[in-house]
Amino acid sequence: MSINSRISGLRDHTPSERLALVADGAGLDPAALDALSAEGGLSLGQADHMIENVVGLLAIPVGVATNFTIDGQDRLIPMATEEPSVVAAASNAARMARGHGGFTTSYTGDVMIAQIQVLDAVDPHGTRFALLETKDELLALANEQDPMLVSLGGGAFDISVRVLPTRAGAQVIVHLHVDVRDAMGANAVNTMAEAIAPRIAEVAGTRTLLRILTNKAELRLTRARAVFDVELLGGAQVVDDIVAASAFAEADPYRAATHNKGIMNGITAVVLATGNDTRAVEAGCHSHAARSGQYAALSQFEKDADGNLVGTLEVPLAVGLVGGATRAHPTAQAGVKLLGVETARELASIIAAVGLAQNLAACRALAAEGIQRGHMTLHARTIAASAGAEVGEIGEVASRIVADRQIRVEHAREVLAALRAGRNPA
Ligand code: MEV
Repeated sequence: MSINSRISGLRDHTPSERLALVADGAGLDPAALDALSAEGGLSLGQADHMIENVVGLLAIPVGVATNFTIDGQDRLIPMATEEPSVVAAASNAARMARGHGGFTTSYTGDVMIAQIQVLDAVDPHGTRFALLETKDELLALANEQDPMLVSLGGGAFDISVRVLPTRAGAQVIVHLHVDVRDAMGANAVNTMAEAIAPRIAEVAGTRTLLRILTNKAELRLTRARAVFDVELLGGAQVVDDIVAASAFAEADPYRAATHNKGIMNGITAVVLATGNDTRAVEAGCHSHAARSGQYAALSQFEKDADGNLVGTLEVPLAVGLVGGATRAHPTAQAGVKLLGVETARELASIIAAVGLAQNLAACRALAAEGIQRGHMTLHARTIAASAGAEVGEIGEVASRIVADRQIRVEHAREVLAALRAGRNPA
Protein backbone atom coordinates (compact mmCIF):
# COMPACT_ATOMS: atom_id res chain seq x y z
CA MET A 1 0.00 0.00 0.00
CA SER A 2 1.34 3.43 -0.87
CA ILE A 3 0.67 6.13 1.75
CA ASN A 4 1.59 9.78 1.46
CA SER A 5 1.91 11.25 4.95
CA ARG A 6 2.65 14.79 3.70
CA ILE A 7 -0.70 16.57 3.72
CA SER A 8 -0.04 20.28 3.85
CA GLY A 9 -2.55 22.59 5.52
CA LEU A 10 -4.54 19.78 7.11
CA ARG A 11 -5.32 21.98 10.10
CA ASP A 12 -7.04 24.57 7.88
CA HIS A 13 -9.91 22.19 7.03
CA THR A 14 -13.04 21.00 8.80
CA PRO A 15 -12.92 17.55 10.43
CA SER A 16 -14.91 15.91 7.61
CA GLU A 17 -12.70 17.50 4.93
CA ARG A 18 -9.65 16.29 6.86
CA LEU A 19 -11.04 12.76 6.97
CA ALA A 20 -11.41 12.80 3.17
CA LEU A 21 -7.86 14.15 2.72
CA VAL A 22 -6.43 11.58 5.10
CA ALA A 23 -8.29 8.74 3.32
CA ASP A 24 -6.88 10.02 0.05
CA GLY A 25 -3.33 10.17 1.52
CA ALA A 26 -3.72 6.60 2.77
CA GLY A 27 -5.09 5.39 -0.57
CA LEU A 28 -8.36 4.33 1.09
CA ASP A 29 -12.00 4.71 0.15
CA PRO A 30 -13.29 7.38 2.61
CA ALA A 31 -16.04 4.92 3.65
CA ALA A 32 -13.33 2.73 5.21
CA LEU A 33 -12.75 5.48 7.77
CA ASP A 34 -16.44 6.18 8.52
CA ALA A 35 -16.03 4.92 12.07
CA LEU A 36 -13.63 7.81 12.75
CA SER A 37 -16.36 10.37 12.04
CA ALA A 38 -18.52 11.60 14.91
CA GLU A 39 -21.54 9.63 13.68
CA GLY A 40 -19.70 6.42 12.89
CA GLY A 41 -18.12 5.26 16.15
CA LEU A 42 -19.04 2.77 18.82
CA SER A 43 -22.77 2.26 19.41
CA LEU A 44 -24.24 1.87 22.87
CA GLY A 45 -25.28 -1.65 21.88
CA GLN A 46 -21.70 -2.57 20.96
CA ALA A 47 -20.40 -0.98 24.17
CA ASP A 48 -22.87 -3.07 26.15
CA HIS A 49 -21.04 -6.19 24.96
CA MET A 50 -17.62 -4.84 25.89
CA ILE A 51 -17.89 -4.10 29.61
CA GLU A 52 -20.42 -4.39 32.42
CA ASN A 53 -23.15 -2.02 33.64
CA VAL A 54 -22.79 0.19 30.59
CA VAL A 55 -24.58 3.52 30.89
CA GLY A 56 -22.91 5.59 28.18
CA LEU A 57 -19.86 6.39 26.06
CA LEU A 58 -16.95 8.80 26.49
CA ALA A 59 -15.84 10.54 23.31
CA ILE A 60 -12.14 11.45 22.95
CA PRO A 61 -10.81 13.46 19.98
CA VAL A 62 -8.88 11.49 17.36
CA GLY A 63 -6.35 13.52 15.38
CA VAL A 64 -4.07 12.30 12.59
CA ALA A 65 -0.31 12.88 12.80
CA THR A 66 1.33 13.65 9.47
CA ASN A 67 4.88 13.64 8.04
CA PHE A 68 5.93 10.24 9.45
CA THR A 69 8.20 7.92 7.51
CA ILE A 70 8.91 4.73 9.48
CA ASP A 71 11.20 2.01 8.14
CA GLY A 72 10.97 3.58 4.70
CA GLN A 73 7.17 3.67 4.63
CA ASP A 74 4.98 6.77 5.05
CA ARG A 75 2.28 6.46 7.73
CA LEU A 76 -0.73 8.59 8.67
CA ILE A 77 -1.19 7.97 12.36
CA PRO A 78 -4.43 8.17 14.38
CA MET A 79 -3.91 9.55 17.88
CA ALA A 80 -6.67 9.59 20.54
CA THR A 81 -5.96 12.20 23.19
CA GLU A 82 -7.65 14.97 25.11
CA GLU A 83 -4.38 16.98 25.33
CA PRO A 84 -3.87 19.95 22.99
CA SER A 85 -0.50 20.25 21.16
CA VAL A 86 0.22 16.52 21.13
CA VAL A 87 -0.78 15.74 17.52
CA ALA A 88 0.73 18.96 16.12
CA ALA A 89 3.97 18.40 18.05
CA ALA A 90 4.37 14.81 16.82
CA SER A 91 3.75 15.88 13.21
CA ASN A 92 6.23 18.71 13.52
CA ALA A 93 8.93 16.47 14.98
CA ALA A 94 8.34 13.90 12.21
CA ARG A 95 8.92 16.66 9.66
CA MET A 96 12.32 17.39 11.24
CA ALA A 97 13.36 13.74 10.86
CA ARG A 98 11.98 13.26 7.35
CA GLY A 99 14.93 14.64 5.42
CA HIS A 100 17.24 12.22 7.22
CA GLY A 101 15.18 9.14 6.35
CA GLY A 102 12.59 9.37 9.12
CA PHE A 103 12.42 6.72 11.83
CA THR A 104 14.04 3.31 11.73
CA THR A 105 13.12 0.55 14.14
CA SER A 106 13.99 -2.94 15.33
CA TYR A 107 11.96 -5.43 17.35
CA THR A 108 12.95 -8.29 19.62
CA GLY A 109 9.89 -10.45 18.82
CA ASP A 110 6.25 -11.12 19.70
CA VAL A 111 7.19 -12.72 22.99
CA MET A 112 5.16 -12.48 26.19
CA ILE A 113 5.97 -14.04 29.55
CA ALA A 114 3.56 -15.66 32.03
CA GLN A 115 4.53 -16.14 35.66
CA ILE A 116 3.55 -19.10 37.86
CA GLN A 117 4.25 -18.60 41.56
CA VAL A 118 5.26 -21.71 43.53
CA LEU A 119 4.90 -21.51 47.32
CA ASP A 120 6.27 -23.55 50.22
CA ALA A 121 9.07 -25.32 48.34
CA VAL A 122 11.22 -26.94 51.03
CA ASP A 123 14.29 -26.97 48.76
CA PRO A 124 13.77 -24.03 46.35
CA HIS A 125 16.98 -24.64 44.37
CA GLY A 126 16.27 -28.35 44.01
CA THR A 127 12.70 -27.51 42.97
CA ARG A 128 14.02 -25.08 40.40
CA PHE A 129 16.18 -27.75 38.80
CA ALA A 130 13.37 -30.32 38.91
CA LEU A 131 11.08 -27.89 37.08
CA LEU A 132 13.74 -27.15 34.46
CA GLU A 133 14.09 -30.92 33.90
CA THR A 134 10.34 -30.98 33.06
CA LYS A 135 10.63 -28.16 30.53
CA ASP A 136 9.67 -30.14 27.40
CA GLU A 137 6.64 -31.66 29.08
CA LEU A 138 5.48 -28.27 30.39
CA LEU A 139 5.93 -26.65 26.98
CA ALA A 140 3.95 -29.43 25.28
CA LEU A 141 1.17 -29.05 27.83
CA ALA A 142 1.11 -25.28 27.32
CA ASN A 143 0.95 -25.63 23.53
CA GLU A 144 -1.95 -28.10 23.72
CA GLN A 145 -4.04 -25.12 24.93
CA ASP A 146 -3.66 -23.15 21.71
CA PRO A 147 -3.30 -25.27 18.57
CA MET A 148 -4.29 -22.26 16.44
CA LEU A 149 -1.37 -20.19 17.76
CA VAL A 150 0.98 -23.13 17.19
CA SER A 151 -0.34 -23.57 13.63
CA LEU A 152 0.53 -19.90 13.01
CA GLY A 153 4.12 -20.58 14.04
CA GLY A 154 3.77 -19.28 17.60
CA GLY A 155 3.38 -20.94 20.98
CA ALA A 156 5.31 -21.58 24.18
CA PHE A 157 9.01 -22.13 23.45
CA ASP A 158 10.95 -21.69 26.66
CA ILE A 159 10.79 -21.84 30.43
CA SER A 160 13.00 -20.18 33.00
CA VAL A 161 12.78 -20.57 36.76
CA ARG A 162 13.86 -18.09 39.44
CA VAL A 163 14.34 -18.50 43.18
CA LEU A 164 12.99 -15.24 44.58
CA PRO A 165 13.85 -14.16 48.12
CA THR A 166 10.75 -12.49 49.63
CA ARG A 167 9.76 -11.35 53.12
CA ALA A 168 7.59 -14.49 53.20
CA GLY A 169 10.59 -16.72 52.48
CA ALA A 170 12.00 -18.00 49.19
CA GLN A 171 9.47 -18.48 46.40
CA VAL A 172 10.04 -20.31 43.12
CA ILE A 173 8.83 -18.36 40.10
CA VAL A 174 8.36 -20.09 36.75
CA HIS A 175 8.43 -17.95 33.59
CA LEU A 176 6.74 -19.33 30.50
CA HIS A 177 7.94 -17.65 27.28
CA VAL A 178 5.33 -17.59 24.52
CA ASP A 179 5.48 -16.33 20.96
CA VAL A 180 2.01 -14.77 20.67
CA ARG A 181 2.39 -13.66 17.02
CA ASP A 182 0.07 -10.72 16.22
CA ALA A 183 -1.98 -10.85 19.42
CA MET A 184 -1.36 -8.76 22.51
CA GLY A 185 -1.20 -12.19 24.04
CA ALA A 186 -2.67 -11.83 27.54
CA ASN A 187 -5.42 -14.41 27.01
CA ALA A 188 -3.13 -16.92 25.35
CA VAL A 189 -0.42 -16.83 28.00
CA ASN A 190 -2.82 -16.71 30.96
CA THR A 191 -4.63 -19.80 29.66
CA MET A 192 -1.31 -21.62 29.28
CA ALA A 193 -0.14 -20.57 32.75
CA GLU A 194 -3.31 -21.89 34.35
CA ALA A 195 -3.06 -25.12 32.39
CA ILE A 196 0.52 -25.98 33.39
CA ALA A 197 0.24 -24.89 37.04
CA PRO A 198 -1.15 -28.23 38.35
CA ARG A 199 1.76 -30.16 36.78
CA ILE A 200 4.21 -27.58 38.21
CA ALA A 201 2.66 -28.10 41.66
CA GLU A 202 3.07 -31.88 41.25
CA VAL A 203 6.72 -31.62 40.25
CA ALA A 204 7.42 -29.12 43.06
CA GLY A 205 5.54 -31.31 45.54
CA THR A 206 3.77 -28.22 46.82
CA ARG A 207 1.25 -25.62 45.58
CA THR A 208 1.07 -22.79 43.07
CA LEU A 209 -0.68 -19.48 43.62
CA LEU A 210 -0.66 -16.68 41.01
CA ARG A 211 -0.71 -17.60 37.31
CA ILE A 212 -0.68 -14.48 35.18
CA LEU A 213 1.33 -12.66 32.50
CA THR A 214 3.89 -10.03 33.44
CA ASN A 215 3.43 -6.60 31.91
CA LYS A 216 7.20 -6.19 32.12
CA ALA A 217 7.32 -7.36 28.52
CA GLU A 218 11.12 -7.32 28.30
CA LEU A 219 11.20 -9.83 25.44
CA ARG A 220 8.93 -7.63 23.31
CA LEU A 221 11.07 -4.52 22.97
CA THR A 222 10.78 -2.03 20.15
CA ARG A 223 13.67 0.32 19.40
CA ALA A 224 13.19 3.49 17.36
CA ARG A 225 15.91 5.83 16.09
CA ALA A 226 15.82 9.08 14.13
CA VAL A 227 18.11 11.92 13.11
CA PHE A 228 16.53 15.35 13.60
CA ASP A 229 17.85 18.15 11.44
CA VAL A 230 19.96 20.78 13.21
CA GLU A 231 18.63 23.66 11.08
CA LEU A 232 14.97 22.66 11.42
CA LEU A 233 15.49 22.29 15.16
CA GLY A 234 16.67 25.89 15.37
CA GLY A 235 20.46 25.58 15.27
CA ALA A 236 23.46 24.13 17.08
CA GLN A 237 22.60 25.66 20.45
CA VAL A 238 19.18 23.97 20.47
CA VAL A 239 20.85 20.62 19.70
CA ASP A 240 23.31 21.08 22.58
CA ASP A 241 20.49 22.10 24.91
CA ILE A 242 18.37 19.06 24.03
CA VAL A 243 21.41 16.84 24.68
CA ALA A 244 21.78 18.52 28.09
CA ALA A 245 18.04 18.07 28.79
CA SER A 246 18.35 14.40 27.86
CA ALA A 247 21.33 13.93 30.20
CA PHE A 248 19.24 15.48 33.00
CA ALA A 249 16.41 12.96 32.40
CA GLU A 250 18.87 10.04 32.20
CA ALA A 251 20.37 10.97 35.59
CA ASP A 252 17.39 12.19 37.61
CA PRO A 253 14.21 10.19 38.37
CA TYR A 254 12.21 13.38 39.04
CA ARG A 255 12.91 14.69 35.56
CA ALA A 256 12.75 11.18 34.02
CA ALA A 257 9.12 10.78 35.16
CA THR A 258 8.10 13.92 33.25
CA HIS A 259 10.36 13.19 30.26
CA ASN A 260 8.75 9.74 30.00
CA LYS A 261 5.28 11.25 30.44
CA GLY A 262 6.01 13.21 27.26
CA ILE A 263 6.91 9.95 25.49
CA MET A 264 3.70 8.35 26.76
CA ASN A 265 1.66 11.29 25.40
CA GLY A 266 2.46 9.87 21.98
CA ILE A 267 2.53 6.17 22.81
CA THR A 268 -0.75 6.07 24.73
CA ALA A 269 -2.57 8.11 22.07
CA VAL A 270 -1.78 5.54 19.34
CA VAL A 271 -2.31 2.57 21.66
CA LEU A 272 -5.77 3.93 22.52
CA ALA A 273 -6.65 4.82 18.92
CA THR A 274 -5.96 1.21 17.89
CA GLY A 275 -8.00 -0.30 20.74
CA ASN A 276 -4.98 -1.68 22.57
CA ASP A 277 -4.50 -1.88 26.34
CA THR A 278 -3.07 1.46 27.46
CA ARG A 279 -2.50 0.31 31.06
CA ALA A 280 -0.53 -2.76 29.98
CA VAL A 281 1.75 -0.66 27.77
CA GLU A 282 2.20 2.02 30.43
CA ALA A 283 3.04 -0.56 33.12
CA GLY A 284 5.55 -2.14 30.73
CA CYS A 285 7.22 1.14 29.80
CA HIS A 286 7.58 2.38 33.36
CA SER A 287 8.92 -0.96 34.58
CA HIS A 288 11.44 -0.82 31.72
CA ALA A 289 12.43 2.70 32.78
CA ALA A 290 13.29 1.28 36.23
CA ARG A 291 15.16 -1.80 34.96
CA SER A 292 18.55 -0.67 36.28
CA GLY A 293 17.15 -0.24 39.79
CA GLN A 294 16.81 3.52 39.32
CA TYR A 295 13.93 5.02 37.35
CA ALA A 296 15.45 6.72 34.26
CA ALA A 297 14.65 8.16 30.84
CA LEU A 298 13.41 5.73 28.20
CA SER A 299 15.16 7.73 25.46
CA GLN A 300 18.49 9.41 24.80
CA PHE A 301 19.46 12.35 22.59
CA GLU A 302 23.01 12.79 21.25
CA LYS A 303 24.72 14.99 18.66
CA ASP A 304 26.06 13.21 15.57
CA ALA A 305 29.21 13.99 13.60
CA ASP A 306 27.29 16.45 11.36
CA GLY A 307 25.81 18.35 14.29
CA ASN A 308 22.34 16.84 13.89
CA LEU A 309 20.42 15.36 16.81
CA VAL A 310 20.13 11.58 17.12
CA GLY A 311 17.22 10.28 19.18
CA THR A 312 16.87 6.69 20.40
CA LEU A 313 14.00 5.12 22.33
CA GLU A 314 13.61 1.55 23.63
CA VAL A 315 10.23 0.43 25.02
CA PRO A 316 8.37 -2.82 25.63
CA LEU A 317 5.17 -2.68 23.57
CA ALA A 318 2.62 -5.43 24.18
CA VAL A 319 0.21 -4.52 21.41
CA GLY A 320 -1.66 -6.63 18.91
CA LEU A 321 -4.07 -6.62 16.01
CA VAL A 322 -5.98 -9.76 16.90
CA GLY A 323 -8.78 -9.88 19.45
CA GLY A 324 -9.87 -7.49 22.16
CA ALA A 325 -11.10 -3.97 21.48
CA THR A 326 -8.86 -3.76 18.41
CA ARG A 327 -11.32 -6.11 16.71
CA ALA A 328 -14.51 -5.14 18.55
CA HIS A 329 -14.32 -1.34 18.42
CA PRO A 330 -15.21 0.12 15.01
CA THR A 331 -13.08 3.25 15.52
CA ALA A 332 -10.06 1.16 16.47
CA GLN A 333 -10.62 -0.91 13.30
CA ALA A 334 -10.67 2.24 11.22
CA GLY A 335 -7.48 3.39 12.97
CA VAL A 336 -5.75 0.13 12.05
CA LYS A 337 -6.94 0.47 8.43
CA LEU A 338 -5.61 4.01 8.27
CA LEU A 339 -2.21 2.82 9.50
CA GLY A 340 -2.17 0.05 6.92
CA VAL A 341 -0.43 -2.34 9.33
CA GLU A 342 -0.64 -6.11 9.07
CA THR A 343 1.51 -7.25 11.98
CA ALA A 344 1.95 -6.42 15.65
CA ARG A 345 5.56 -5.61 14.88
CA GLU A 346 4.59 -2.91 12.35
CA LEU A 347 2.13 -1.42 14.82
CA ALA A 348 4.77 -1.41 17.58
CA SER A 349 7.29 0.28 15.28
CA ILE A 350 4.82 3.10 14.61
CA ILE A 351 3.99 3.51 18.30
CA ALA A 352 7.66 3.72 19.26
CA ALA A 353 8.35 6.25 16.48
CA VAL A 354 5.50 8.44 17.70
CA GLY A 355 6.82 8.19 21.28
CA LEU A 356 10.24 9.37 20.12
CA ALA A 357 8.78 12.19 18.00
CA GLN A 358 6.62 13.36 20.89
CA ASN A 359 9.58 13.31 23.24
CA LEU A 360 11.75 15.30 20.82
CA ALA A 361 9.02 17.91 20.37
CA ALA A 362 8.62 18.36 24.13
CA CYS A 363 12.38 18.54 24.76
CA ARG A 364 12.83 21.03 21.93
CA ALA A 365 10.04 23.28 23.17
CA LEU A 366 11.38 23.10 26.73
CA ALA A 367 14.97 23.75 25.69
CA ALA A 368 14.15 26.48 23.17
CA GLU A 369 11.16 28.63 24.10
CA GLY A 370 9.49 26.91 27.07
CA ILE A 371 6.43 24.71 26.70
CA GLN A 372 3.75 27.24 27.49
CA ARG A 373 3.78 29.40 24.37
CA GLY A 374 2.78 26.70 21.89
CA HIS A 375 0.68 24.93 24.45
CA MET A 376 -1.32 27.99 25.39
CA THR A 377 -1.84 28.95 21.75
CA LEU A 378 -3.53 25.61 21.14
CA HIS A 379 -5.23 25.68 24.53
CA ALA A 380 -6.70 29.03 23.49
CA ARG A 381 -8.62 27.27 20.71
CA THR A 382 -10.24 24.98 23.30
CA ILE A 383 -11.09 28.03 25.44
CA ALA A 384 -12.57 29.82 22.43
CA ALA A 385 -14.75 26.78 21.68
CA SER A 386 -15.85 26.57 25.34
CA ALA A 387 -16.86 30.24 25.12
CA GLY A 388 -19.25 29.34 22.31
CA ALA A 389 -17.16 30.27 19.23
CA GLU A 390 -18.23 28.46 16.05
CA VAL A 391 -15.70 26.65 13.81
CA GLY A 392 -15.22 29.78 11.65
CA GLU A 393 -14.69 32.00 14.71
CA ILE A 394 -12.36 29.87 16.84
CA GLY A 395 -9.13 30.92 15.11
CA GLU A 396 -9.77 34.63 15.50
CA VAL A 397 -11.01 34.45 19.09
CA ALA A 398 -8.02 32.26 20.02
CA SER A 399 -5.50 34.66 18.43
CA ARG A 400 -7.02 37.63 20.22
CA ILE A 401 -7.05 36.08 23.68
CA VAL A 402 -3.43 34.95 23.18
CA ALA A 403 -2.43 38.47 22.04
CA ASP A 404 -4.26 39.94 25.06
CA ARG A 405 -2.49 37.38 27.30
CA GLN A 406 -5.86 36.53 28.86
CA ILE A 407 -6.53 32.91 27.94
CA ARG A 408 -9.71 32.61 29.98
CA VAL A 409 -13.26 31.65 29.03
CA GLU A 410 -14.75 34.95 30.30
CA HIS A 411 -12.38 36.97 28.15
CA ALA A 412 -13.04 34.70 25.17
CA ARG A 413 -16.78 35.40 25.62
CA GLU A 414 -16.11 39.16 25.57
CA VAL A 415 -13.93 38.87 22.46
CA LEU A 416 -16.54 36.69 20.76
CA ALA A 417 -19.33 39.15 21.57
CA ALA A 418 -17.26 42.06 20.22
CA LEU A 419 -16.41 40.08 17.09
CA ARG A 420 -20.05 39.23 16.42
CA ALA A 421 -21.17 42.81 17.15
CA GLY A 422 -18.52 44.05 14.69
CA ARG A 423 -19.85 41.68 12.02
CA ASN A 424 -23.50 42.48 12.64
CA PRO A 425 -23.60 46.10 13.85
CA ALA A 426 -27.01 47.01 15.29
C1 MEV B 1 3.31 17.55 28.97
O1 MEV B 1 2.15 16.79 28.71
C2 MEV B 1 4.57 16.75 28.66
C3 MEV B 1 5.89 17.45 29.02
O2 MEV B 1 5.89 17.80 30.39
C4 MEV B 1 6.99 16.45 28.72
C5 MEV B 1 8.38 16.91 29.16
O3 MEV B 1 8.49 17.67 30.12
O4 MEV B 1 9.34 16.43 28.54
C6 MEV B 1 6.07 18.70 28.25
